[in-house]
Amino acid sequence: MSLAKGAISMIQNSSSGPSELASMSLGSLAPAQSRFREQWLRGTLSAGRNVFVLLVELLLVTISFELSMSHFESRLAPLEIGEAAILIVVLVLVFRGAALIAFGVCERSFRHAGLSDAIAIAKAVAVSSVALYAACFGLKTHFDVVPPGGFFLADAATLFLMLSTFQFSARIYHFFVDTAGTSAAAAKRVVIIGAGDAGVSVLRELLDMPRSGIVPVALVDDDPMKRGTLICGVPVVGGLPNLAAVLSEFQASEVLVCIPSATSSQRKRILAACRKGGVPIRTLPGVVSLLDNRASMRDLRSITIEDLLQRDEFVPDRNLTSQLVAAKVVLVTGAGGSIGSELCRQIAAACPRRLVLVDKSENSLFYCHLGIQEACPGLEIIPVLGDVTDDHFVRTTMLQGRPNLVFHAAAFKHVGMMELHPDQAIRNNVLGTRNVLLAATDAGAEIFVNVSTDKAVNPRCYMGLSKKLAELFVKESDARHRTRCMSVRFGNVAGSTGSVLRIFSEQIRQGKPLHVTDPHATRYFMSIPEAVFLILCAASLGKGGETFIFDMGEPVNIYELARTLMLFAGVMPGEELPIHFTGLKDGEKVAEELWDGWEVPESTDNSRIFKLAGSNPLSIDIFSAVGRFHEFIAAHDHAGLVQYIAELVPGFAQQRTSLSEFATNQVQDDLERVNA
Ligand SMILES: NC(=O)c1ccc[n+]([C@@H]2O[C@H](COP(=O)([O-])OP(=O)(O)OC[C@H]3O[C@@H](n4cnc5c(N)ncnc54)[C@H](O)[C@@H]3O)[C@@H](O)[C@H]2O)c1
Repeated sequence: MSLAKGAISMIQNSSSGPSELASMSLGSLAPAQSRFREQWLRGTLSAGRNVFVLLVELLLVTISFELSMSHFESRLAPLEIGEAAILIVVLVLVFRGAALIAFGVCERSFRHAGLSDAIAIAKAVAVSSVALYAACFGLKTHFDVVPPGGFFLADAATLFLMLSTFQFSARIYHFFVDTAGTSAAAAKRVVIIGAGDAGVSVLRELLDMPRSGIVPVALVDDDPMKRGTLICGVPVVGGLPNLAAVLSEFQASEVLVCIPSATSSQRKRILAACRKGGVPIRTLPGVVSLLDNRASMRDLRSITIEDLLQRDEFVPDRNLTSQLVAAKVVLVTGAGGSIGSELCRQIAAACPRRLVLVDKSENSLFYCHLGIQEACPGLEIIPVLGDVTDDHFVRTTMLQGRPNLVFHAAAFKHVGMMELHPDQAIRNNVLGTRNVLLAATDAGAEIFVNVSTDKAVNPRCYMGLSKKLAELFVKESDARHRTRCMSVRFGNVAGSTGSVLRIFSEQIRQGKPLHVTDPHATRYFMSIPEAVFLILCAASLGKGGETFIFDMGEPVNIYELARTLMLFAGVMPGEELPIHFTGLKDGEKVAEELWDGWEVPESTDNSRIFKLAGSNPLSIDIFSAVGRFHEFIAAHDHAGLVQYIAELVPGFAQQRTSLSEFATNQVQDDLERVNA
């Protein structure tokens, strides 16, 4: 019934009178007409331009023919009179004109003339010359003399030169006009690394744009066959081991890395040489991002954090992740965060039965859910918005979801903020972990993985201490439950929210000075995907009760990192942007460690993962401590909590001078850095 009504109303609505119909159709025709008119105009203009070019080329054909005739004058005099003269000129114009049209010579762009245009001209001239010779030979009864082969060769060569000069005239004109406007002193001298297809494409593009103010001064290539040659007038020198010397010899002001297939060790060597020479660098993406290995200046990008940290050996083994999570229900807390969301991405790609995402930030949860839904449309994903410090919420979620695997990445992580709010550090990071672990074991989870941090080692701040206590709780809980409970501990991940790398990159982008605590400060860094893959590897290795640490490579000097990030963003450190030293505050360390003095790293089946052996000399009863934390927090007794912590972990309190003073200084300093 309603369908019928709808149909009737549609018919009624569309019952317009003839004049309305006419105006409607005229209205809808108007844009089509104007499009047609525009296309017609464009077509006419382009046809007119081609006809004009053809006429000029035929004029050149005539001039070339006349010049060649005058050269062979004594032998071809009979051809210059009467019917023979008219016939031969007509033949020349028809054959040459037909060839120029057939090879599309008159349609080619002058501004972008290149080798393919010269080849088209050569073909048109050669084919028409052979045809002319054959025609003259066939019509020899009409001519008193048949022009010799030498005449056709001379005419072909003259015509090829004239047509090529005409075709390249616009490029030659622009080259001289454009270069006239640029001063050699102001030009940026670039060294291109890689004299392959990609490097040469970029070189040609640069040479075609003299006004860009970028002058390619040398190409660097490891291939000895290329070395010592000139490509488009630019010398090829080599190779990568001599890069630092090449940069100084050619006074390079920028390096363009044009080796899409460069291995990470090659990239590292290039980065090291540029860093040593203080030369900014831009790079092409990998081969997969480039079509046919052809590259353009537009493809060049700044070095990313991942480029800086790339290690040769990181090849994620997708089979391993699949063996761990395939057909399992997996729950991730802190799913909206830097580590949680990458955990969700890698787990989702390995086909779990169901993925439960838990986070208390609605926005982060929304985007994580959306991203995974788009990447894995068939996967059952359950986003759960809630707080892991709410025990009832956690238990209900676990009992409803019944996860086989639980990854706990929900935490507060900002050192300065936790110094201001020690109660929140304990509430979120210790009591939150307790809630998730106990609910997971009660719901029958097979594996519980607590994501920890190197700040938990010999902690000097509340954030580190809370993570240390959480690790201890996880370790001690393992013996009490059937669930395999373990912690994974690692240093900074590059590019996570609030990381120093992100802050530096943002400050460089905004042209603000960079702040470094101490010239000797070092930190471990790893890319987020790599760290998360190792978390999953550790989960499959764990028997229960372990604290795993990862091989994070060499620690990175933060001052050097700041300088490198500046260089790679095209900014000269110290000259264009200053780096200020702020000095270490209480709780901050010059270097982070991955394990405590009493912990002994032992190798595992995975060469990048170690498990820590040794017993904690600080043998506190973590279960009763956690119970007391709960009581202090429930009673809002923050002073009592801080006092209790000082008694529980005496070393921690001794390492700190004035807690409140430090807290205020730290946050004040963070705010100044961000606002500077
Ligand atoms: N980022 C690093 O460089 C790094 C390095 C080593 C270890 N870690 C550890 O990994 C963990 C996660 O770090 P991240 O960088 O992903 O942090 P993040 O701040 O990006 O993510 C944490 C997520 O947890 C959520 N969350 C916090 N408290 C919650 C609660 N009570 N209930 C529910 N959700 C809550 C937040 O909303 C956020 O989405 C932390 O324990 C951190 O110490 C981080």
